[in-house]
Amino acid sequence: MPGKKEFSRLSLDVKPINYSLRMKPNLKAFTFEGSEDIDVEVGKSTNQVSLNSSEIEVLDVYFQHEGSDEKQKAEIAYEKENEKVIFTFPAALQTGKGVLSVKFSGILNDQMKGFYRSKFKTSDGQEGFHAVTQFEACDARRAFPCWDEPAVKATFDITLVLPQNKLGLSNMPVEKESPLESDPTMKVQKHTRSPVMSTYLLALIVGEFDHVEAKDEDGVLVRVFTPVGKKEQGKFALEVALKTLPFYKKYFQIAYPLPKMDLIAIPDFSAGAMENWGLVTYRETALLIDPDNSSSKVKQWVALVVGHELAHQWFGNLVTMEWWTHLWLNEGFASWIEYLCVDHCFPEFDIWTQFVTQDLGRALELDALDNSHPIEVPVGHPDEVDEIFDAISYSKGASVIRMLHDYMGDEDFKKGMNIYLTKFKYGNTFTEDLWDSLEKVSGKPIRELMSTWTKQMGFPVIKVEQKRDGSTRVLTITQEKFCADGKKPEASFQWMVPISISTSASPDKPAKIILLNSPTTTVTLEDVKEDQWVKLNCGSVGVFRVQYDTDMLDALLPAIKDKSLPSRDRLGLQNDLFALCRAGLISSVDVLKVASAFVNEDDFTVWSDLFANLSNIAVLLQYTEYYDHYKSFIVDLISPVAERLGWEVKENEGPLMGMLRDLVLGKLGRYNHKTTVEEARRRFDGHISKSKPVPADLRGSVYSTVLSHGDEDVFQKMITLHNESDFLEEKTRISRLLGLIKDPKLMQKVLEFALSEHVRAQDTVFVIGGVTASKEGRDMTWRFVQDNWKELHHRYQGGFLLSRLVKMVTECFVTAEKLKEVQDFFETHPAPAAERTVQQSCENIQLNIKWMERDSVAVGDYLKNRN
Ligand code: BES
Ligand code: ZN
Repeated sequence: MPGKKEFSRLSLDVKPINYSLRMKPNLKAFTFEGSEDIDVEVGKSTNQVSLNSSEIEVLDVYFQHEGSDEKQKAEIAYEKENEKVIFTFPAALQTGKGVLSVKFSGILNDQMKGFYRSKFKTSDGQEGFHAVTQFEACDARRAFPCWDEPAVKATFDITLVLPQNKLGLSNMPVEKESPLESDPTMKVQKHTRSPVMSTYLLALIVGEFDHVEAKDEDGVLVRVFTPVGKKEQGKFALEVALKTLPFYKKYFQIAYPLPKMDLIAIPDFSAGAMENWGLVTYRETALLIDPDNSSSKVKQWVALVVGHELAHQWFGNLVTMEWWTHLWLNEGFASWIEYLCVDHCFPEFDIWTQFVTQDLGRALELDALDNSHPIEVPVGHPDEVDEIFDAISYSKGASVIRMLHDYMGDEDFKKGMNIYLTKFKYGNTFTEDLWDSLEKVSGKPIRELMSTWTKQMGFPVIKVEQKRDGSTRVLTITQEKFCADGKKPEASFQWMVPISISTSASPDKPAKIILLNSPTTTVTLEDVKEDQWVKLNCGSVGVFRVQYDTDMLDALLPAIKDKSLPSRDRLGLQNDLFALCRAGLISSVDVLKVASAFVNEDDFTVWSDLFANLSNIAVLLQYTEYYDHYKSFIVDLISPVAERLGWEVKENEGPLMGMLRDLVLGKLGRYNHKTTVEEARRRFDGHISKSKPVPADLRGSVYSTVLSHGDEDVFQKMITLHNESDFLEEKTRISRLLGLIKDPKLMQKVLEFALSEHVRAQDTVFVIGGVTASKEGRDMTWRFVQDNWKELHHRYQGGFLLSRLVKMVTECFVTAEKLKEVQDFFETHPAPAAERTVQQSCENIQLNIKWMERDSVAVGDYLKNRN
């Protein structure tokens, strides 16, 4: 836990009803002037009003009672640490209505939070700036003094003052535009009144953009804003949004409440996207699609992100969590339903299988650590709030909702959602409010069940042993907390676990579903033939791991090989096995043998998860003499699938084939498969000479292969490709791979490049992260991050990008010496919002150390002697 900072919520003796907020950004001086008239309700007489405010200069403050002609002026005092400003009036404000008028000014900062500037290239190649906002979680207070808490909702009348030739956008449509009297080069743009909403969902934009637009089937105006001259790149997202809005309307049985829905790509953006009501902001790579230069993976990503942010328009914006402790409600839910939406709009992505690796897998990995935290976690100070935008809130949140949805069935779940959203619209909720609505519809013990998942951290490992008696199988099932290091857990951890059981008679449909609500139970299955397998957790829907006895596991292996076990089950099974071996509960050699059973595998997602697991072991074996043997092991494992796929795109193949080809060829290339390396080089030459451009779906593998075997010449070519491209997807594809270069001098150049003006701050951490792929690169990067800590810390002001960086550069170390280095460094260089990440990294290093001691020699022997 981060050191608790003192914190208190604002007094609500005086509450806002409506803000009339006028903002005038200056894109030359990088400042802004603002004024607000806040209609307030004084519930309890007081002469002090505290608002949130940070890095803002408040110029003057007046209060006027309704019906009175007199204004009283306040004294202004700042509580900087608490991000508050306190207005003290000469006389107490009387109960009833009044107007609080505040004038203030601030800086358009370059830190991607609050009201900030974002750089772009104008059509004549000059440097230009947009003024944009990012307010979640606690940064509306950097733009204007306000009650910056999600439960303090109000309506907003936004007025922007901006140059005549610029575009102004906010949550609501423009009502009126008129020239600014004092300066005819400027205009005053008044936007219509918003519904009651939380401050973190406001958005203001002044800039230059093109757009495409259309109405959805319900008449909602949808617009996608792109860089000037690039409006074609907005078409795909527009198409997605046009399908998505009606999908949610039907799902929730509630119409989208605003008259317009804008989606806009912002060149400098710290998160992936932000769900501001009616004006969703995105990173360029999460919104823009160029048919010639976008990969299937990025298309899929755009669909997921749009699906996620538009879901928030209901779940989050219309109904909002009462406090950040319930952030997971927002993020977990949106991270679940984005898949439902993409599955509906683009079934060709088989997206639910990808959920199992992207979200469930990620959640289980993190949540097995001692330094995890419960989904619902008390938070106060903004640093603590920032810290919970993590895989627990997102991926574990989404995973427990998926398990719940499966347990309830779609019909009941949908009905419950409608009850919840209708009951609390324009209001705020606690986690329990959702459970109560779902419980009411289903009659199932939802609150009791779900509390075991949201109020305690971790998840169980379900151990299962089978006894055969003719055609009867008796399963003994037990639960205990799964610890990443395999230690005996405290018995006090218990969950209510829906467990499905399938057999080879019907692999996709559970033969039985039980609700485990005790440490142990037995289940009897009748009529199971001698050669049939029995598997728990059908479709990998449950948030737990399974540890089988040998008899059961052995029966499952042929079903991996012949793929009669469904893909999600194959994926989940091997993922559990890798985790069990990392915990020292089963042998790593046995798990590598299981991996060999995947030779016939052709599912993109299964391969991608299996590779991730194999790569974790590769990182450890880099520190041994067996690394080359391991590389050949992997090359042997994947050569057959590479043969089947070939380099050429087949007619009518779906997007997953392209993604699989890129994945497999990329691995073969990096693990030194000779003909793959040669072919990649040949194709790279054709790409550079423009005689035969490499299709976007293959660029990742070609670039990574030539870089990992490349010299200065290749490196320079890649840098040129990067600098010459004006498409961010292409730039990030290249910049994140640069670190694969083997020459230490060039690696150093990559690190410097990451901090240069060629890379935006939003991308820097990933470019640096790219250098950690090799042993040498990892050491070098760690040194570099320590040497440049001040600069990095300043760039991200603590924020979650810094946590990402800390994780990438530290968690793969394997020695006690490095562990100590990491611990010592962060002792003296605190990063409040990354404290938990540091703890998690240290825990991971310890797990690495243990694995090396325990398993590396046995694995080496196996690799050397396998035939
Ligand atoms: N509400 C978040 C944006 C956000 C993230 C604000 C972190 C403040 C801090 C948004 O809905 C979101 O979750 N965005 C994701 C993308 C999504 C598809 C998972 C992101 O930014 O990574
Ligand atoms: Zn979200």
